[in-house]
Amino acid sequence: MNDQYATDPELTSLLEFAQQAALNSYSPYSKFRVGAALKLTSGEIVTGTNVENISYGLTICAERSALVRAVATYGPEIRIEAVAIANLNKAASPPCGACRQVLAEFILPEAPVIFPAANGVRTMAFDKLLPLAFDMKLK
Ligand code: THU
Repeated sequence: MNDQYATDPELTSLLEFAQQAALNSYSPYSKFRVGAALKLTSGEIVTGTNVENISYGLTICAERSALVRAVATYGPEIRIEAVAIANLNKAASPPCGACRQVLAEFILPEAPVIFPAANGVRTMAFDKLLPLAFDMKLK
């Protein structure tokens, strides 16, 4: 999939789930309210939001909170076929590097990731967002 700004209706609907999830954000320190929605290959949609901590460093991003919830709910065989990220701050929010590496464990390489960017909502294939994830396979 090419990096693009236009989007399809399924991704738009996934984005709405992400926006809804952001309403539950626990972000008293940054006030940055993020939501993520994962579409699994089984058809299920799993959402998450950022959960901050007074220690700051223990904060969990929306994307990882969704992923952990998906595994806890549907088990270790899940595969992610699309990701949507939203925030309620009218800001850009591509997934952070840590979340990309964690998503890499369960996501299809070509899965579209839709997120707010400088010039509107942007969609990129996961393997474009993280071209060389840490992996110990010699191939
Ligand atoms: N955050 C996310 O939820 N996802 C990201 O990919 C980047 C940042 C959260 C963490 C923190 O609660 C707030 O946004 C500000 O960094």
